[in-house]
Amino acid sequence: MDGAKYIGGKGVCVIVVAAGSGRRFGAPLPKQYCDMDGRPVLMVALERIKAVWPEAEVLLVINDDYRGLWLEMCGRHDFESPRMVSGGDTRWQSVRNALDVMPRGVDVVAVHDAARPMFTPEVGSGLIDAICAGRQGAIPVVSMVDSLRRVDGDGGSKSVDRAEFRAVQTPQLFRADLLVEAYSRPYSSVMTDDASVMEAAGYMDIALTEGDEALMKITRPHDIEIVRMLAKEV
Ligand code: CTP
Ligand code: MG
Repeated sequence: MDGAKYIGGKGVCVIVVAAGSGRRFGAPLPKQYCDMDGRPVLMVALERIKAVWPEAEVLLVINDDYRGLWLEMCGRHDFESPRMVSGGDTRWQSVRNALDVMPRGVDVVAVHDAARPMFTPEVGSGLIDAICAGRQGAIPVVSMVDSLRRVDGDGGSKSVDRAEFRAVQTPQLFRADLLVEAYSRPYSSVMTDDASVMEAAGYMDIALTEGDEALMKITRPHDIEIVRMLAKEV
């Protein structure tokens, strides 16, 4: 089904978080500004959001030090930047900064990592369907392929059943009122995504929808090569 049609009935704001420094990626520039297919990763991520949810309001959270570079890139590619918001020291703070300036009339908030450029209409539809069915939130997940072990602090480990686990991707969608309330509470370091912030506030009705291997996050140096390859196929 067409995500944009649903979105017409609900005010949707997409927060794209792009204020990280890409420490694990280890390049001179943060990974979201690195070249993917002649354009920076961030531009591809924004274009795909726009293609899937053309009516959504987008807020781009960006580190102030890179605002000039980003605007220069937009000029070079004749790309119109969404409204920009200053990032914070943690992903949590970056999301919070965007929620603080969100426009009125937003019913649903999607939070998306700029480092995941390969968003697809199929993933978008699954998320929108779950929210329209009345769930408090919806997050895309994929099953684990590697065997998994739980490690203890003493160098020991024990295998666990991987069927009990899912890897969580973005965009993650939530009822706006609940997400704003959840983000009004104090930060804790276990809050690595938005679903964990919702859960800490007691909002447990989060649907797990179908993610996509192609929606992987660029984290380590070689990931960008894999995403470049996937972009040719998806
Ligand atoms: N992010 C953000 N503000 C921060 C930290 C992260 O907006 N203070 C964003 C990143 O730009 C990225 C997303 O959150 O799009 C997911 O974070 P991650 O993959 O961890 O990116 P970085 O924090 O940049 O990378 P690293 O942890 O390796 O430094
Ligand atoms: Mg990080």
